[in-house]
Amino acid sequence: MSQVKDLLTIQDVTAEQFEKLMKLSAKIKAQRYTTDYKPLAGKSIGMIFAKSSTRTRISFEVGIHELGGYPLYLDQGKMQVERGETIADTARVLDRYLHGLVIRTFDQSDVEELAANASFPVINALTNEYHPCQVLTDMFTIYEYSGKFEGVKMTYVGDGDNNMANSMILGAKLAGIELVLSTPEEFKPNEDVMNIEHGFGKVSWEKDPIKAVENADYIYTDVFVSMGFEEEAKRRLEILKPYQLNMTLLKAAKPDAKVLHCLPAHRDEEITDEVIESEQSIVFDQAENRLHVQKAIMAMLVDENAYDKL
Ligand code: CP
Ligand code: NVA
Repeated sequence: MSQVKDLLTIQDVTAEQFEKLMKLSAKIKAQRYTTDYKPLAGKSIGMIFAKSSTRTRISFEVGIHELGGYPLYLDQGKMQVERGETIADTARVLDRYLHGLVIRTFDQSDVEELAANASFPVINALTNEYHPCQVLTDMFTIYEYSGKFEGVKMTYVGDGDNNMANSMILGAKLAGIELVLSTPEEFKPNEDVMNIEHGFGKVSWEKDPIKAVENADYIYTDVFVSMGFEEEAKRRLEILKPYQLNMTLLKAAKPDAKVLHCLPAHRDEEITDEVIESEQSIVFDQAENRLHVQKAIMAMLVDENAYDKL
């Protein structure tokens, strides 16, 4: 990310930056309590949240603090943007105070507009369309467990047309893993995103989840009802039910396949209690990695020599 100002989608990350990000995340994780590397010293980073969050908010707040910076949590509902101030004006004002901004909101276009009107780095902490920090963390978790990306197969089951699926498609291409998305016709992956060229990972769709998980090293799922889509809950839960990650599906993958979930999990909807509590589930290691990877992302955005300094 040394040449890039912002992280708005996985497309902002080149193959070379991705490789460095994986290695830097590992170094940052290993040296959490021993390093005096503080690339955010003297810097104030805003964190605008228009949607709920546990992992993202807390891991960014702790991460900014650990890198020497000052995190400011900002509830979008209490800002003037909610009373009609434009996003561009908001960005131009924040630009006079802050040195970076983490934002979770609804429309990707709002995040893009904000970034275009501010000189500091903007990090997308989830929109309706994308969740790049989560997927970069997921790739790091795979790299930790498998030690490589080549030859790794992941199957994503459930809602194929949400922020997680979109970012996972781009992340799989960038990392070079094989990704099969198994979803009902109604929630198929977005064609435009499937067609984006961003690396060499092979991405495909398979309607039958049992076929899709054959030989999978990782099975991934996400909630059936994403934030902002609550009024579609009934229909979604009905249509997506056959795509639940349960023991039958887990047993159809490789015997040592690992289970990933961005969390929060809605137990016994998209994933059973038994699967999430099984020895094959690594969801809490995955959640921990949000902290390490986001610290690496912030370090690389503010310091183009971050990789060499640790
Ligand atoms: N996975 C994730 O982004 O979690 P939060 O919604 O709790 O931040
Ligand atoms: N797709 C989910 C991801 C939560 C981290 C949502 O947007 O609610």
